[in-house]
Amino acid sequence: MDTILTGLQPAFQPDQVSVWFKAAKVSDFPKNGGACVKYKDKQIAVYYFERRNQWYACQNACPHKLEMVLSRGMIGDEKGIPKIACPMHKKTFSLVTGENLNGDLDAISIYPVKVEDNFVYIGFSE
Ligand code: FES
Repeated sequence: MDTILTGLQPAFQPDQVSVWFKAAKVSDFPKNGGACVKYKDKQIAVYYFERRNQWYACQNACPHKLEMVLSRGMIGDEKGIPKIACPMHKKTFSLVTGENLNGDLDAISIYPVKVEDNFVYIGFSE
């Protein structure tokens, strides 16, 4: 069984995860892009960076106008930090810490992701 843990925010470690939500099969997600999954009342944006073979997850709501759009943003990196650019007004956020990289918006929530037996799981602490 292969387990890949990635996209961990320092303040949110795997031992704080109380629920690993089985989101979908790996093949259900686009490469080098995002998709939105729902967990309870949360919308979560999930991204797969094919070149890095890394997964990240964050809140789908952009803190700028609270639009549910981050899963449709462009992924990239800034000085080695994986980031997401909101499709609305191009605010960018680190997918490691959630920090707003080109402004002073609130940080977004980042969630741990693991891949196990071809399924993508997102970690929550409840
Ligand atoms: S709504 Fe995301 S940058 Fe404006």
